[in-house]
Amino acid sequence: MTMTSGPGRYVLFGHPVSHSWSPFIHGLFARQFDHVVDYKLVDTAPGQFRHAVIEFFVQGGAGANVTLPHKPAAAEIVNDLSARAERARAVNTIVRRSATELYGENTDGVGLVTDLTRNLGVTVTGTRLLILGAGGATRGVLAPLLEQEPREVRIANRTPERAKALRDEFSDLGEISASGFDEVEDRPWDVVINATAASLAGEMPELPPRAVGRDSVCYDMAYGRGDTAFMRWAAGRGSTRAHKGWGMLVEQAAESYLLWHGVRPATKSVMGALERL
Ligand code: ATR
Repeated sequence: MTMTSGPGRYVLFGHPVSHSWSPFIHGLFARQFDHVVDYKLVDTAPGQFRHAVIEFFVQGGAGANVTLPHKPAAAEIVNDLSARAERARAVNTIVRRSATELYGENTDGVGLVTDLTRNLGVTVTGTRLLILGAGGATRGVLAPLLEQEPREVRIANRTPERAKALRDEFSDLGEISASGFDEVEDRPWDVVINATAASLAGEMPELPPRAVGRDSVCYDMAYGRGDTAFMRWAAGRGSTRAHKGWGMLVEQAAESYLLWHGVRPATKSVMGALERL
């Protein structure tokens, strides 16, 4: 009997991580295929992360998800990176190729684009797209968003220099501009994606009041029970299409599942189950 026989062992490394819905989501995915999957949360402090990952895979672990704050560190640990993960300089999914060979992928961006285009019916191609924030969350989704060929992309951030650095780094992939919030053009953008950590603190980036209008699609990468501060603000500006990031969460998980098990689970019923939690 090898160490990897029996139910595959999967974990999510994060800090904190106890709030995560990933075990629930992966449990529902596994039921669709009668798979037996053991998916657990592992709270690891940054100083312990490298050791914890290596230990897990040496012990026969089959795959790992990685969340804040470890995604950039995970990109440094794996032996091989996908092109997307390399661009993002962040890994949210580790696949075990062998005990000594780990492959890193980033499914966040494709999860966001799938939720926008397939679940919400939003066409990104040809739009004026505004992204709020210039941290790891933005870096993780920029390349897949640019692949959709929006007409124009603006990265706006509280610290404009960080937005400009991201613009410079991704400018080979499309037409990008960068600024602080106060310089954002004060007429409705087609799609506005909030990738700041502001919602987590119940705060709202200080955007000009008319940056969002009735037809603007507003998407908060944050999620939780109820509406986020950004969704409430967008609704207050008249937007009838404000969404939170549950769908992105489920779609990025489905992409991880595909990488690990070779099959992509259906996501609609899982989103329904989350909604009822
Ligand atoms: P993450 O990996 O989640 O993106 P990060 O790299 O710390 O985390 O970036 C957090 C982002 O949220 C940044 O764009 C940050 O703005 P700064 O670069 O100016 O720090 C943004 N952010 C956090 N709190 C915010 C707030 N209250 N209002 C506006 N932006 C905020």
